[in-house]
Amino acid sequence: MKLLLRSTTRVVALLLIVALQFGCTRGADAAAVAVAVHRTPAHVMSFRSADWLEREDRIAQEQPERVIATMGVKAGDTVADIGCGTGFFTRRLARAVSPGGTVYAVDIQPEMLERLQRYASAEEIGNIQPVLGTDRDPALPRGEIDWILLADVYHEMQQPEAMLSALRASLAPGGRVALLEYRARGDSAAHIHPDHRMTREQVLAEWEPAGFELDELHEFLPAQHFFIFKASG
Ligand SMILES: C[S@@+](CC[C@H](N)C(=O)[O-])C[C@H]1O[C@@H](n2cnc3c(N)ncnc32)[C@H](O)[C@@H]1O
Repeated sequence: MKLLLRSTTRVVALLLIVALQFGCTRGADAAAVAVAVHRTPAHVMSFRSADWLEREDRIAQEQPERVIATMGVKAGDTVADIGCGTGFFTRRLARAVSPGGTVYAVDIQPEMLERLQRYASAEEIGNIQPVLGTDRDPALPRGEIDWILLADVYHEMQQPEAMLSALRASLAPGGRVALLEYRARGDSAAHIHPDHRMTREQVLAEWEPAGFELDELHEFLPAQHFFIFKASG
């Protein structure tokens, strides 16, 4: 009961903060803000749809090389790709941290990790460490990760608070997190199911209380927000 009250109070407080930021004073406006902030996690994308992650036009749409260059990942870095799927980003990150760096490829579906390993061995990439995580735990070493990437996955995490806490604990001093999420506003991501899209406000309302501070926000991708966070405090 105490827990329920605490989280209800937190949601109300968040709504109030966002409402104040938007200068919303009337009931209808407050309701619109409530819709904007509240969300339910989407379902997890099944490994049966994994081909979609390797579709041909994805490079033009998601510009992985530009994303990685913007992050500033460099040789020798330790990186974690959370919800790596087939490794569309993991394999590129692995090349970017070579020589000397490692990429932890974390997923909760072993079938995704198996497919990633097949691609990595065909491409002769040897610095990827596959990790089978759980809904609550990415099973990463504490305090060692220079960069974490979450591409098109945060919205489908069933236990986002637990995951954010574990991710924060895994960051090395000065470590940062890159987050890609399809835009919920406007029609740039109209081809994506609404449950798999987020507003900037929804992201900040969950990430800031979890101990993250927005460092950069890039909008060069056609359909996605690209946030960079660092640990706050
Ligand atoms: C839409 S796919 C994106 C895959 C990859 N990031 C990409 O951009 O190609 C989402 C992936 O996240 C994984 N996933 C969902 N929840 C997760 C969690 N809590 N921890 C780790 N992986 C998760 C799913 O199994 C799935 O492989």
